[in-house]
Amino acid sequence: MLTTRRLLVGLFGVFVVLLLRSSNNSNSNNQLPDMSSKFSTPVVIIGSGLAGLSTANQLVLKHKVPIVLLDKASSLGGNSIKASSGINGAFTSTQKKLAVEDSAAAFYQDTVSSAKSAGVPSLMSKLAKDSASAISWLQAEFGLKLDLLAQLGGHSAPRTHRSSGKLPPGFEIVQALSNSLKSLSESDPALVQIRLNSQVFDVEIIHNKVQAVKYYDSDGVSQRVDTNNVVFCSGGFGFSKKMLKKYAPELESLPTTNGAQTTGDGQELLENLGGQLIDMTQVQVHPTGFIDPNDRQKGWKFLAAEALRGLGGILVNPTTGRRFVNELSTRDLVTEAIQSQCPKDDNRAYLVMSEAVYQNYKNNIDFYMFKKLVRKTTVGEFAEELPISAAELAAELRDYSSAQQDKFARVSRINAFGTGADASTVVYVGEITPVVHFTMGGARINELAEVLNKDGKPVAEGLYAAGEVSGGVHGANRLGGSSLLECVVFGRTAADSVAKL
Ligand code: FAD
Ligand code: SIN
Repeated sequence: MLTTRRLLVGLFGVFVVLLLRSSNNSNSNNQLPDMSSKFSTPVVIIGSGLAGLSTANQLVLKHKVPIVLLDKASSLGGNSIKASSGINGAFTSTQKKLAVEDSAAAFYQDTVSSAKSAGVPSLMSKLAKDSASAISWLQAEFGLKLDLLAQLGGHSAPRTHRSSGKLPPGFEIVQALSNSLKSLSESDPALVQIRLNSQVFDVEIIHNKVQAVKYYDSDGVSQRVDTNNVVFCSGGFGFSKKMLKKYAPELESLPTTNGAQTTGDGQELLENLGGQLIDMTQVQVHPTGFIDPNDRQKGWKFLAAEALRGLGGILVNPTTGRRFVNELSTRDLVTEAIQSQCPKDDNRAYLVMSEAVYQNYKNNIDFYMFKKLVRKTTVGEFAEELPISAAELAAELRDYSSAQQDKFARVSRINAFGTGADASTVVYVGEITPVVHFTMGGARINELAEVLNKDGKPVAEGLYAAGEVSGGVHGANRLGGSSLLECVVFGRTAADSVAKL
């Protein structure tokens, strides 16, 4: 009897608090929560790149938990929408169909080797182990084909998935996951709310428990969403000169592929909340950003997708006219080779591709040609820009195409130039230079995607992070294709962790 009375008093208390909150807080635009759910407040997700979209979809589709998705940008997708090579998965149904032998253990090994002793091995292990289910989730839940593979640098097997068809992988994946949320936000606004132009500036934590997220709306007015769970999916800091100056000053002057929204807000906020930042000095320089011949000094550059090399492109040194590196080494090694061997004044090399590469990656290369970043030419014409003759260049290409042992130990040499390459052979050529691309460092998390403090303990109940804002998943060097994967694996994990509470 006493217990029943206590329960009734408790319930009345909760009711009064909810009533007061909704009437007192004039700036709060919370919707009434879905009371059928065990969640009295929605989960707030900060950032609408693939990490945020994966978290959100897993929460609403699998767990029916209400969410509010906040993004400071005016459209969804962050840097994720630009992804051009694809998403990794080991031991997937696509690999099995294409008779590619691979395993989570081999992927883990590649990841650890690339990480060079930095990072958190248990997170890398989870990344590799959950990779096949991440790919099958995208295929089954969103109808994505992901039926083609490329072998990128540092990978021991072709495991970077993209779909046949016209759309680049980042765009295709982001579009599918966004559409799912957009239609739910129309049919069930209590379940899904999307608020763009909403810049998060604080998270309120009381007694070690998340209480609210605060943000500025499009008019610069401060708003709050009451919540007990927040998932930071706010991306990296590759665009912020301020952050680069602090953590990797030697890279401050390099151009970048990142969008202007990539300013490390989440890392700064989480550090202020007591989270530990790890590996912050580990900033990935991607070896191949396209130099626009009409604006060579531009600080922002289109990425020359690693798939261009994975599918057969080679690099040629302008000062020698010859190859100079295994183009499928890890990104740090290819970058180092360009910086140490190619012209010092502009750090430039040529990316050279065969007709077969073009046919295999046609839509993307057509886009680069439309942007005048790649031109179709012949070996003879191209050689006029080099210090070697057309015959010597053709011999270089024939040697690359047919040598038993590649002189730089490149293993995958698909779509090469052919044993008959001569001055008339068609080639596709662009100029590239290293670019700041990805920040491996970020908030330390555990395998449940909880944000940890310096003692390795969760900072607060209900505080999670996933995607590029987190650190430790890639160590000192990320493998191509593993960022999209990280977003899906840890975004879904964060959602499952929230739902289990
Ligand atoms: P993002 O996608 O960057 O999204 C973060 C979002 O958070 C943004 O929308 C931002 O506006 C929002 N945000 C930030 N701060 C706030 C705030 N204070 N309040 C509210 N919102 C905020 N990786 C691969 O695996 N494969 C590829 O093929 C690939 N290609 C790439 C090509 C390019 C050109 C680039 C730039 C990157 C590529 N990457 C690729 C890397 C990958 O796309 C990103 O690292 C990854 O998608 C990051 O996803 P995310 O969800 O963590 O962050
Ligand atoms: C690329 O297409 O080269 C980018 C892939 C990645 O960053 O993982």
